[in-house]
Amino acid sequence: MIPRWKIISLSVGVFLFLLTCKTKSSDTDTTNYLNHHDSVDYVGIQACRPCHSDKYDSFVHTGMGQSFFHATKEKSVANFEGIEAVYDSKTDLYYFPFWNKDSLYFREFRLKNGDTTHSLVKKIDYIIGSGQHTNSHLYTENGYLYQAPLTWYSQKQKWDLPPGFENENSRFSRKLDVECVSCHNAMPVYTPNSGNRFEHIPLGIDCERCHGPGEAHINKIKSGDITDTSTSIDYSIVNPAKLSWQLQMDVCQRCHLQGNAVLKSGKRFIDFRPGMKLTDYFEVFLPEYEGDHSFIMASHAERLSESQCFIQSNNESNDKNVTCISCHNPHISVNSTPKEKFNNACKSCHTQESCTETEEQLKLNAYNCVSCHMPKTSASDIPHVAIHDHKISIPGNEESPSEEGVLIGLKSINNYNTSDLTLLRAYISKYEKSGNNPFFIHEAEKLLDAGNAEVKIHYFYNTEQYSEIIELASTLIPKECDDPWTLMRIARSYMHNEQWSSSEFWLDSLASLAPFNLDFNNERAIVKMRLKKLDDAVSILNILYELQPNYETTLVNLGRVYFLKDNLGLAKKHSLKAILLNPDSKDAISTLRDIYLATGDLKSLEKITKKLNDLSAN
Ligand code: HEC
Ligand code: HEC
Ligand code: HEC
Ligand code: HEC
Ligand code: HEC
Ligand code: HEC
Ligand code: HEC
Repeated sequence: MIPRWKIISLSVGVFLFLLTCKTKSSDTDTTNYLNHHDSVDYVGIQACRPCHSDKYDSFVHTGMGQSFFHATKEKSVANFEGIEAVYDSKTDLYYFPFWNKDSLYFREFRLKNGDTTHSLVKKIDYIIGSGQHTNSHLYTENGYLYQAPLTWYSQKQKWDLPPGFENENSRFSRKLDVECVSCHNAMPVYTPNSGNRFEHIPLGIDCERCHGPGEAHINKIKSGDITDTSTSIDYSIVNPAKLSWQLQMDVCQRCHLQGNAVLKSGKRFIDFRPGMKLTDYFEVFLPEYEGDHSFIMASHAERLSESQCFIQSNNESNDKNVTCISCHNPHISVNSTPKEKFNNACKSCHTQESCTETEEQLKLNAYNCVSCHMPKTSASDIPHVAIHDHKISIPGNEESPSEEGVLIGLKSINNYNTSDLTLLRAYISKYEKSGNNPFFIHEAEKLLDAGNAEVKIHYFYNTEQYSEIIELASTLIPKECDDPWTLMRIARSYMHNEQWSSSEFWLDSLASLAPFNLDFNNERAIVKMRLKKLDDAVSILNILYELQPNYETTLVNLGRVYFLKDNLGLAKKHSLKAILLNPDSKDAISTLRDIYLATGDLKSLEKITKKLNDLSAN
């Protein structure tokens, strides 16, 4: 019999013209800036320092300048004296931060009747967050980047689980991807399709995130070619003040707009450069509720754009615009900016007399426009953190944040004319991120006709219509598909139908596209095990083990494959290592049970069966 995948690959030729995973992007960048060209490199903040030392000296003290650094005592703003371990009742685990010499460590432990039944210590490599609001903590394993389960909340002066961990404590396994790092840092060097592996992690947001890559500029100046920047533009570098108000907003919105970011086809988070149009790279979606006024921490840009000041100033008939830099000089921290700077910005468009509040009240508030019109309020997404609401409004006119109203839909907050394709993709990814709220997938269904093969596969994957996916897959050529997730979804659809050979075919193509992705390659090893290709599985898993020796899934699968190969010694070794990392790893414990069963170790068998039963009961 011819394996099914061969039939598929034969039929592929017929459809060659119809579909590939790739969709050609239609937008072209026509700009005058020399540093928009791919060949111009990032050079780092130290390269700018000699000639712009004034900017450098103040910038390094801003929140952005201190957004990311090694975990050192100087960098940390947290308190380590006389603190108690943070307890997570959901997982029954404690967390405790401590210094040993100059290195920061977190200990995770579990207590049972006063005895420590589990203890895991991880060294922390980086601190993310200047500490104006928080310090969160990251560690790396051979370049794979993870968030650790403790955060310091500066305003409340307390240690607690990081935002999001209170609902689901992912312990030491939360992967930090390029989307996250590229908002909190200078441009990282990311291993494509790896999920969370970085070849280079810089140390804080730098000049080039707002000015674009600097190589061309420095070469130009060094060659003696000097521009009179008071009358003209030096096109080797971007000065945001010289951009249109829309592009000015985009420089800051690249990072100060948080929601569900949907990349345009073929674009990556690292592709956007200052002076470009953000909607050519991604759009950011937020759910819209009836009468909802709550806001999230990084939504400064969205809130500002809802203000009458913004709406009525930023139109064709008006040449006095409002953007972030009307009030902020990003080289100087808000903490060192006198209040007058902000109030003067108000007064450049309004007079004090235009304020209809009573003189008495104004005086009480020291005529500080901001204190009433841009109050400090809690952000809805991050616990223990307060920021200034950037929707400039009449106090009291805003309804107080209601309990979640009726969900109306998703809206793109940086593009009023979003396409059906982008909206469809937003609904599908929001469905996944919302923990499968059916509203979003129903909205997606209405837009399905706008989808290409890749997006339809994503949709059918979420609606578990695997045969639809298999039908679409027959029109695709794996080698021309550059989206690893599409290949993965196809492979999983075959797995679902227990068509292991076809699944293997797609996973093998995926492996060459995403060789450093630990999860994808672990699934590939599992399929090889299903097909009884145990030696293939072992060699895949050993490569993954080399890449990241402390990855629970790899260890679990190594335990399993060695058990299947009757190598009980190695099976036990890897399973035990997995359990050290995660005392509740059901899969590793199951393998261990099978090993005890095979060796007739009844005492251990009884103990471990009880443990398994307890875990299943919880
Ligand atoms: C060798 C000295 C030198 C270095 C290094 C240097 N600059 Fe400049 N820069 C200048 C000079 C001189 C000017 C003004 C004249 C010009 O732009 O031709 C300038 C102008 C600028 C401008 C204003 C452009 C305009 O049109 O208003 C920006 C922005 C800028 N530099 C940013 C940077 C950044 C970011 C870096 C680091 C990547 C950097 N510079 C590195 C010398 C330097
Ligand atoms: C590369 C992403 C990125 C870009 C681009 C960016 N920001 Fe930020 N910004 C951040 C992050 C992240 C923080 C929080 C840093 C922290 O405190 O850890 C921040 C903090 C700030 C702060 C408060 C911190 C302080 O000390 O003042 C201001 C104000 C600010 N940004 C304004 C701007 C403006 C204005 C622009 C556009 C000209 C801009 N940002 C562009 C990511 C960015
Ligand atoms: C779209 C860009 C963006 C993404 C993606 C993003 N952040 Fe942020 N984050 C910001 C901005 C901007 C701020 C600052 C908001 C402010 O100061 O009000 C911030 C604030 C923070 C802070 C508080 C910093 C402080 O001390 O003020 C931490 C910690 C943080 N983010 C961690 C993360 C982690 C971890 C991820 C990834 C899992 C992430 N962020 C993803 C833009 C982003
Ligand atoms: C968060 C965004 C941001 C970062 C980071 C940033 N700048 Fe700027 N820069 C701006 C903006 C916005 C302007 C225009 C300010 C204005 O005129 O209102 C500017 C203007 C400039 C100018 C030219 C105009 C002037 O005022 O002299 C130079 C030179 C410059 N920046 C250098 C630097 C250097 C060097 C660094 C890093 C040490 C840096 N910038 C980091 C946003 C940024
Ligand atoms: C670039 C000009 C500009 C700046 C800067 C500006 N505004 Fe406005 N503002 C406007 C315009 C235009 C309107 C709409 C017409 C009006 O009500 O005057 C407006 C409206 C308002 C309103 C009425 C809001 C409503 O919902 O009806 C308030 C309050 C206000 N501004 C306060 C401020 C404060 C406080 C600041 C400084 C933090 C400020 N504005 C900065 C231009 C500006
Ligand atoms: C009308 C003036 C005004 C404009 C425009 C403005 N801001 Fe602010 N911003 C403020 C004031 C006032 C503060 C509070 C400063 C303080 O703490 O004293 C602030 C604080 C911040 C902070 C620090 C965190 C917080 O909320 O306290 C960030 C980040 C920030 N602004 C980002 C932005 C970004 C991004 C834009 C553009 C989308 C922007 N701002 C536009 C006035 C403005
Ligand atoms: C004590 C708090 C407070 C301070 C300080 C304050 N305002 Fe107001 N402002 C208000 C209130 C409340 C209203 C609405 C009053 C009403 O009911 O008409 C208002 C109304 C306004 C309006 C809208 C007028 C209209 O109806 O179109 C503007 C514009 C404005 N303020 C600007 C300013 C400026 C500029 C400053 C700083 C010089 C300032 N405010 C300081 C509380 C304040």
